[in-house]
Amino acid sequence: MDKIRVGLCGLGTVGTGVVKVLESHQEQIKHKLGCEIEINKILVNDLDKPRDIVIDRSWLTNDPGELVENEAIDVIIEVMGGIEDTNQLMERAIQNKKHIVTANKDLMAVHGQKLLRLAKANHCDILYDASIAGGIPIVRTLADGLASDHIEKIMGIVNGTTNYIMTKMTDEGLPFDQVLKEAQDLGFAEADPTSDVDGLDAARKMTLLANLAFKMELNLDDVDVTGIRNVTQDDINFAESLGYTIKLIGIASMDNSKAEVSVEPTLLPKDHPLALVKNEFNAVYVHGEAVGETMFYGPGAGSLPTATAVVSDLMEVVRNIRLGISGNTYIDPQFERQLKDYNE
Ligand code: NDP
Ligand code: HSE
Repeated sequence: MDKIRVGLCGLGTVGTGVVKVLESHQEQIKHKLGCEIEINKILVNDLDKPRDIVIDRSWLTNDPGELVENEAIDVIIEVMGGIEDTNQLMERAIQNKKHIVTANKDLMAVHGQKLLRLAKANHCDILYDASIAGGIPIVRTLADGLASDHIEKIMGIVNGTTNYIMTKMTDEGLPFDQVLKEAQDLGFAEADPTSDVDGLDAARKMTLLANLAFKMELNLDDVDVTGIRNVTQDDINFAESLGYTIKLIGIASMDNSKAEVSVEPTLLPKDHPLALVKNEFNAVYVHGEAVGETMFYGPGAGSLPTATAVVSDLMEVVRNIRLGISGNTYIDPQFERQLKDYNE
């Protein structure tokens, strides 16, 4: 196979970044993979919308069938968002033997395990590193880099929008509504930013991380969630006066086969490493039985950082296709047994 053809679902903040990274790093990608990657079709809502990149108009379509049922396409990159309709579309794609790369944590938190099993049954990959903590390769780290360890705890800042808001309210005293608008303009926020502000986006990411780390099938009902909506400037100032800062922190821990996951505004001493994580940046602590404490830090949202994660996943899919080992990603053989133990 000297060329891999991609169908790109979505050409917004992340999709535009994917096109840019594929174009600007084309030679390096080709050299590493030994084959070319070509975008074949791009699914959008509005064919006439002005785009801030030059794009061959003949690539654009608003008919999903032109991607998921297109025999020329090997891999679908899903960066359009949405849950139920998108799930149906991804199921159709997998049934048509397409590999999937997605940045969609909403989809993966709700339908991920089912999609992973469907993909495995169809010898397809489904990779989703971009869906958690943007440019930080945290999914790969848990699935591969720390695969030999028992992960006991994960803790961190996994939502860029709320961290941006808390940073600007704390450091510059700016009002909530103004900084939320800035985060939207910068492309960090979700289409419906209430999922950022109310902690749901972080809860979805922590659920995915916990499931990966602890080989569980937790869902959102298992997570205690409080967002930042009720954190006032007075709260922030009072915390500051006592030497603390307030951050939206996700924690997932495993103790005696019992997993606990929460997301809530948390007081941190001002010199705590997580207190120093500013703006849209994310940081994730992972504590493993053998490795001890590790910390991963980087941009948690935004066009090019997220696109980097998407394209790196795409490159792994291509390597798997060429090695003939597709369909084995992130499914643990002991998963079913551990799930059964947990539910009992
Ligand atoms: P945008 O809203 O910027 O872009 C969405 C794109 O998908 C648009 O091009 C839109 O078309 C297209 N689209 C949406 N719904 C449909 C549909 N039903 N049919 C056809 N096309 C559709 O979103 P983002 O790029 O910000 O986010 C995309 C995904 O990536 C989401 O799942 C998000 O959670 C995730 N993500 C986002 C990050 C970020 O920093 N923004 C970071 C990590 C993950 P049109 O252009 O015509 O409107
Ligand atoms: N809205 C998300 C955030 C995008 O702010 O973190 C990255 O997943």
